[in-house]
Order: sequence, then C-alpha cells, then structure tokens
Amino acid sequence: MTAFAQPRSWIATRPTEIRIAPRRLPNEFYPTPPEATRALLSVEDFDGDIWEPACGDGRIAKVLTDHGHAVVSTDLHAYGHGESGVNFLAQRKPRAKHIVTNPPYGFGLADRFVRRSLALTRETGGKVAMLLNMASLCHPRRTAEWQQTPPARIYAIDDIVCWPEDRYGPPPAHFTKHRYVWAIWTPEHNGPPAFWWLSGAEFRAPNSKINRFNSRRFS
Ligand SMILES: C[S@@+](CC[C@H](N)C(=O)[O-])C[C@H]1O[C@@H](n2cnc3c(N)ncnc32)[C@H](O)[C@@H]1O
Repeated sequence: MTAFAQPRSWIATRPTEIRIAPRRLPNEFYPTPPEATRALLSVEDFDGDIWEPACGDGRIAKVLTDHGHAVVSTDLHAYGHGESGVNFLAQRKPRAKHIVTNPPYGFGLADRFVRRSLALTRETGGKVAMLLNMASLCHPRRTAEWQQTPPARIYAIDDIVCWPEDRYGPPPAHFTKHRYVWAIWTPEHNGPPAFWWLSGAEFRAPNSKINRFNSRRFS
C-alpha cells in the first residue's frame, strides 16, 4: 500500500505539516489526555511525592502538579518536559514515594515497567498507578503474574484516546477502539482487586477536579 492509499484519518490536515503515522509511533509516545489523570485523582489519594518515569511532554505530570502534588518527571527521550535520558528500567533508587504513569506498551515494556515500579515502591511504601491497555489484563503470558501480584484496584475508564493529535492529526479509526484501565497497586494489598468504572467525559473540563466530591473514593 502506498502512503497515498492510507485512510484519510491517518494524515494530519495542516497543509504545511503532513505526516503519516507509522504502524507504531516512535518511542511508544502515546500521550494521556488530562481527563484520564483527573479521573484517577477523583478516586485515589497520593500522600507524598510522585514519580512520573515516562513523562513524555508531561500530560500526566502537569495534571498531578495542578492538583497540588510534588512530581518528579523523567523520560528516556526528550519531549520538552522533565529530565530526559533516564531509562526507567535501569533505575534502582526510588525518586519519589509513588509512581504514576502511562508506560510504553510495545515489546513487553509495560510488563517491565510494572515490575520495576513494584520493586521501587517496595522500598518507599508507595502506590503504583499504571494506565494500561484493557486487553493486556487478559493474556496467557500474564495471567500467572497478575495472580501473584494483583493490583488492589482496577478502574475501567471509558472514552479516552491516548494519541498525539498535535503531531499526527486525528487518530486512525482503529486506534480509537482501544480501551484503558488504571491499575493500582498498594503495598498492603493481598487478594483479588476491586473493580470500578470511571467516565472520561465527566473529567474533560479543566475545572472538573470539583467532581471528585461526587465520586466514590477508595483510599
Ligand atoms: C505511552 S507514552 C506516555 C507518555 C506520558 N506518560 C503520558 O502519559 O502522556 C510512553 C513514554 O515512555 C517513554 N519511554 C519509552 N521507553 C522508556 C524507558 N525505558 N524509560 C523511560 N521512558 C521510556 C517514551 O519516551 C514515551 O514518552
């Protein structure tokens, strides 16, 4: 298939900057829309500083900061936010009590991010919150690991799209079908996770943090 035969939704519409999105985006850069982090904060408390170890251009980190959290932002690659050149998988010292991120997914990276985060927060007593592809919850290579180290809570969040529209234009139609969950590990948890639902739309407006008072809180 030639580039011109790509579906229209794959092509940015700005005439000066037409780019075709590759099959998987470079560096697995799929930024998180702010409503996803606001929704997380409506149900989870973080009592201390937070490390965003794959911060990209800071879309999660900025919402955390807006909500009054002290945030350490690092990334392997440079997207103009936080400290770049930091390979999270090679980190052996915690940089903050809690870890919150949307990690890279491809090539088993998300699994490795979860393992490294759990190892690091074992030292701090903090929580781990990972935005994951919902399909990743159910995979024969992961079942035993989920059973051994289950999260305390899983939140299905509807209607969010993690796509760098500013770089590639609107997401391709197939991409908008991805569904996401926040998985939360806490140090004291043992046994099956609780499951709950979050609405993306409810948290789209910038001032929607007030909605936290309408939401159920789990921690
Ligand atoms: C799915 S994007 C999410 C970015 C940001 N967390 C957000 O939610 O907007 C994944 C990010 O992981 C970064 N990344 C990939 N491999 C990494 C590694 N080994 N260590 C740290 N960051 C990495 C990429 O540069 C990219 O910014």
